[in-house]
Amino acid sequence: MKLFIDTGNLKEIESLVPLGVVDGITTNPSLLARERGDPRDILKLICRLVQGPVSAEVLASDAEGMVREGRDLATIDEHIVIKVPFTREGVKACKALTGDGLRVNVTLVFSPTQALLAAKVGATYVSPFVGRLDDISTSGMGLVEQIVEIYDNYDFATEVLVASVRHPLHVVEAARMGADVCTCPAAIFDAMFKHPLTDIGIERFLKDWEKARPAGV
Ligand code: G3P
Repeated sequence: MKLFIDTGNLKEIESLVPLGVVDGITTNPSLLARERGDPRDILKLICRLVQGPVSAEVLASDAEGMVREGRDLATIDEHIVIKVPFTREGVKACKALTGDGLRVNVTLVFSPTQALLAAKVGATYVSPFVGRLDDISTSGMGLVEQIVEIYDNYDFATEVLVASVRHPLHVVEAARMGADVCTCPAAIFDAMFKHPLTDIGIERFLKDWEKARPAGV
């Protein structure tokens, strides 16, 4: 399973990319609005750092505007993936942009029928928002399970990108279900690394070594 960071923050990207576990980045208007500077410059720098797919979202709500914005975003860097919201207009824009040979991430997906329609118009990625579904007492991971099953039934090439991830268990479940990508805030990466028994184990190994072989002996 590929792991993306869900962020627009360069420091977070700079700290995680050298570890070798990051395959791409997803941004959205809320994330980029938190950062200082021109969003286009930030996206360019992100692409340079990660050298993998970087989702950049359109702001227009009509298909024509989304296509215009999407084509413009794609000129920033070859790694840009255009993110469009799942609406009738977004679906129309996805069809046009994929027709241009551009990659599209259909976002704000909350139902299996939305995911099916996104796949039919050639979306590269479909982004179910699991945390926001959990927030309204609906199983986000249940949705992912259904999408994976539907795409497998028909060999759709669209990749399932699990978004709105709130804790490491979402990542575990996504991997067990065979989702293609999980995009996680940097804090979730930190949590995935940590285990107290690893820390205790290292400490014990070093103490035992020191006891048996004091420095210089
Ligand atoms: O990639 C979409 C994601 O950023 C949404 O996450 O936590 O705002 O629901 P959240």
